[in-house]
Amino acid sequence: MKNVLIISGHTDLNDSVANKEILQELENKLPDAVFSYLDRLYPNYEIDVKSEQRKLIDADIIILQYPIFWYGIPSILKKWMEMVFEHGFSHGMGGDKLKGKKLIASFTSGAKEEVYHKNQAVGYEIEDFLPAIKATCNLCGMTFIGYVYSGGVSYQMRTDEESIDMIKKKTNSHVNRLMNMIGREGEKNE
Ligand SMILES: Cc1cc2nc3c(=O)[nH]c(=O)nc-3n(C[C@H](O)[C@H](O)[C@H](O)COP(=O)(O)O)c2cc1C
Repeated sequence: MKNVLIISGHTDLNDSVANKEILQELENKLPDAVFSYLDRLYPNYEIDVKSEQRKLIDADIIILQYPIFWYGIPSILKKWMEMVFEHGFSHGMGGDKLKGKKLIASFTSGAKEEVYHKNQAVGYEIEDFLPAIKATCNLCGMTFIGYVYSGGVSYQMRTDEESIDMIKKKTNSHVNRLMNMIGREGEKNE
């Protein structure tokens, strides 16, 4: 089995249902994976660059797990990327430490899936929000394997048990899709 690293980019998992549930399930299903909970490790956004770089070096498959915040990745995940993907480490002269690694984007949104459509309120497809991650993979010599996405898990729905149960059903399906993607990659011998 390949080494899996999961970076949790939620800014506050204490105030999460979907991402917390996904991460808990992943911990159960992937006991050997390494988890980096950015909000717990770096509540003041003071990222330990060397520690995060070591985790990346040891990983074969990197999963970015996050909620969509303002149509992008949350601030703490952005900060992690800005700090950790250093010139000379991930790109630029001598920067080949991420080369050959695989990356999966795994994310949730408050708006329902169907709203992410060019003819709907958002005006864009969900894939339209991925170019920055894909370009980062290209620059760093990583392969973007794909994405796993669940919509309609808004924090406004955390008001009653029925809505929370619905979110949990969605997150189960999310984890199954993600595990399939990881499994397919794990079987490849490259
Ligand atoms: C600051 C902030 C910005 C958000 N921006 C968006 C957004 O741009 N699009 C969207 O569909 N949902 C947005 N949401 C909703 C979150 O994506 C949603 O609450 C999250 O995916 C649920 O996961 P959680 O239970 O793990 O927090 C936003 C939520 C917050 C708190």
